[in-house]
Order: sequence, then structure tokens, then C-alpha cells
Amino acid sequence: MADRLAIDGGTPVRATPLPYSRQAVDGDDIRAVTEALRSDWLTTGPLVGAFERAVAAAAGAAHAVAVSSGTAALHAAVSAAGIGAGDEVVLTPLTFVASANAVLYCGGVPVFADIRPDTLTLDPAAAESLITPRTRAILPVDFAGQACDMDRFADLTRARDLCLIEDSAHSLGGAYQGRPVGSLADLTTFSFHPAKLVTTGEGGAVTTSRDDLAARLRRFRNHGFDTDFRERQTRGEVYSPMVELGFNYRLTDLQCALGLSQLAKAEDFLKRRTQIAERYLAALADVPGVSAPAVDPAVRHGWHIFPLLLDLGRLSADRRTVVAALRAEHIGAAVHYVPAYWHPYYEGLGYRRGLCPRAEAAFERLVTLPLFAAMSDADVGDVLTALSKVLGYYAR
Ligand SMILES: Cc1ncc(COP(=O)(O)O)c(C=O)c1O
Repeated sequence: MADRLAIDGGTPVRATPLPYSRQAVDGDDIRAVTEALRSDWLTTGPLVGAFERAVAAAAGAAHAVAVSSGTAALHAAVSAAGIGAGDEVVLTPLTFVASANAVLYCGGVPVFADIRPDTLTLDPAAAESLITPRTRAILPVDFAGQACDMDRFADLTRARDLCLIEDSAHSLGGAYQGRPVGSLADLTTFSFHPAKLVTTGEGGAVTTSRDDLAARLRRFRNHGFDTDFRERQTRGEVYSPMVELGFNYRLTDLQCALGLSQLAKAEDFLKRRTQIAERYLAALADVPGVSAPAVDPAVRHGWHIFPLLLDLGRLSADRRTVVAALRAEHIGAAVHYVPAYWHPYYEGLGYRRGLCPRAEAAFERLVTLPLFAAMSDADVGDVLTALSKVLGYYAR
């Protein structure tokens, strides 16, 4: 039977698996990295500053500080914000654990506030209701690539002298009210993991328009040293004073070469991702039992992932079965995210289920479809064919 699901022994929609994400690396990128390999500097060289200037320009910020991952960017940002033992940071649970872990790295306390039911981003009212005298920062995450209500968060944090840290791992190239992501918060963090809009293999950056925060970030990623290797050479100094406890979170020149080459194509990548997302959105209207999170009209979406929400009341299968069925059709469906505090480590810290009911309910319904710039139109067609096949089968 043509419609027999692959999970039940039918023929898969695709012969070969389609991943949920994949980098787009071409000859230009390879040439750029090869050139860097032949240069005098494999790390702490001139490409780091060049990459930082390009990231700052793309993000509309005065400064970008490149670091070794998006996780390092979060750690650096939370530290630069002065978060220490017992300080509370209010954030969304619908995120990758790194957002919350960064608070723990600094001895702080993650305080999870619920999400908006429509966009699935941190709800400003929920965040506000959890502010206490110990709160030091609010950390919204641009879930799937959609900037949060940044004006509301900016007002909230300004009025109470809190730091606003935006985790924009998903939203490079995005904007809110016409202003680029990276210019909206005190500190904004990015990731250049291969699933992201542009990649450096592993990598990340923090943008800020405050000189004092930029200086702290630079020290933090380089052992807490006051100067870097090249500055020391130029000044003829034999050592750099270590003025605070820092880390080696540096991004290499090889990675920055790749990042510069990738960043030059970021706009094309985002246009392609947007095209695919729009094709998905248009097609969803004809697929039973499914909808997409709302897109705020004030936002230019970064389309890092394409999440959809199952209407479980209209389906005879749960999310786990739907994901398994899509995978059997060779469509790399995924789930973003289990609420951060459901992880056993967080349970061990005393967090309990039930804390953020809207995020928990969304988790049970979320499925991520493949979305990356290198997808062909035929790949997109396969995803939609498989989605209709699977949800058509399970529709009540
Ligand atoms: C929302 C969010 N924040 C932070 C990170 C961490 O970035 P990285 O993998 O570059 O450390 C990720 C990674 O996927 C993420 O999705």
C-alpha cells in the first residue's frame, strides 16, 4: 500500500536520511581556512579582530568578543554581568541547558519563568513576577530564532538596575523592531556551532555596546590577563598581569577565517532558511493536527530551527511516535527542548516538574523539522510529503 508508514514496514519517503541540520561549507571557506593555516598566526592573530569587527557590524554593536563556543559566550556574559554566589537569573526553561548552566558556573541560581503560549519565548509578565531582591539579570532566549519582547525586557531591567543578557544562539541575522539582534541587550551571546546560521566548527561571541563589559569579556576569555600575547609583544612586556580568574576560551585564527568567510554569506543563508520556513508555514495549513508557533510581526526571524506543535487531541499518536515515524521515513525530525529543569542534574538541585506548565505542555507537542540553507527544494518536498503521510495516518 502506497501510504503504509515506513515505521510499519512501508517504503520510506526518502532513500537516504535527511539530517535536521547541516553546515554549508564551500570552496571559499576551505580556501580561507587554508590561507590562515599558512599564515604566521594560528591563534591570537589578526583574523580574530577581523572576525570580531564583522560580527559587531552584523549585530549592530560596538564590540564583539569571540570565544570558543556559544556556551563559553554565555559563561563569559553571565560572569561579565557580575553574577556571583546566590544571585538569581530569571530565564526560560525552553532552551538548551547551556543557557541555565552558565548561571550555575558562576554560582548563581537559575529561576525558570514560563513562556508565552503563542511564540514560546520567555513571557515578560512571568519573568517580572519572579523578580526578587536577589535577582541580578534576566536571560531571554531567542527560541528557534525569534527575538523575545526585548523592549519589555529592556524596560524591566532598566527600571530595576538588572542586567539584560540575550541568548541569541539561534538568531544571528535576526532583528526586533528593525534593530539587529546583538544590539538589543546589555550582553548578547551567539553560537557558531555547525547547526547555526554561520559556523566556525565550534565557536561563539558576545556583543555589547558597553566598553567596560567588553574589557571584562576579553579578560575572561584569556585567563583573566590584562593584555593578550600580541599586545605584550608590541609593548615589550614580559608577562601580563592576571587580574581576575579567567579561562582559555579563545577562538583560533583558523576558526575566525572560516567565520569571516561564512559571515559574508549569512544574508544568503538566512534568505534561504526564510524561504524554506515560509514554504513549511504555507503547507501546514493542509496538514491535519499541527500548527506552528506564532511569529511576532515586530521580529525578523533567524529561522535556526522550524518547530511545529502537534494538536494531540486530533492525533491518535503521541509526539514520540510521530518523531519515530518521521525518522523512519528518513526525515531527521528532532525535539527542542525538554524543559531545562527536567534534566536529572537539575532535579538533583531540587527543581521539580510543574514549575512552568506552559513550557512543559509545549514540550510534549514540539517537533522540529529539518531546516538548513543547503537543503534543496526536493528535500523540502520530502519533508512535507513525509509530514502529510505520517500525520494523515495518525489523524483522528
Ligand atoms: C539556545 C542555545 N544557547 C546556547 C547554546 C550553546 O552553544 P554551543 O553549542 O556553541 O556551545 C546552544 C547550542 O545549541 C543553544 O541552542
